Amino acid sequence: MSEYRYIYTSLAKDGFKDKDFKALVEHARRYNAARGISGAILLEQGRFFQILEGPRPAVMILLDKIKQDRRHSDMQYLHCDDEAERLYGDDGMVRLSLSLKDVGKPNGINNQTLEIIEHIISYDQELIAPILRPPLTALLSLLEADETAA
Ligand SMILES: Cc1cc2nc3c(=O)[nH]c(=O)nc-3n(C[C@H](O)[C@H](O)[C@H](O)COP(=O)(O)O)c2cc1C
Repeated sequence: MSEYRYIYTSLAKDGFKDKDFKALVEHARRYNAARGISGAILLEQGRFFQILEGPRPAVMILLDKIKQDRRHSDMQYLHCDDEAERLYGDDGMVRLSLSLKDVGKPNGINNQTLEIIEHIISYDQELIAPILRPPLTALLSLLEADETAA
């Protein structure tokens, strides 16, 4: 079944810490799972990237809540799709990580996540690419070096 997908970026408020992010994702996981919403969220250099997918009306209601949230600002639309195949079905919200230690884990870089991040970069070359491209490139070259060594 196809779903609605919405992708945006926003700026985390100054002082937003890892423990705040953990609490946010925990809440999102429960709320979203109860409403048939799934997705993924990444926090990189103080900027959120979030993918939401599910029934359009439910995603719209959630987006209204997120827009009013004072833990971030400057929400900027990146992409939407009315007939998207669900990518993150099992979990209400996956916290994505560009860290080497998370490679291969559900929240770490795998082929699907890589594809999504490449997509996100392609939506905005000026704002997004300078933030996501360097850590992604560094991670990929570390992985390559690992493979060569093995
Ligand atoms: C970047 C960002 C992403 C968020 N994503 C979600 C989400 O996916 N699901 C969710 O329930 N809340 C999310 N929230 C929290 C909501 O903005 C809001 O705090 C939450 O829905 C609680 O609202 P309520 O007290 O009216 O239920 C997010 C907040 C931020 C700052």
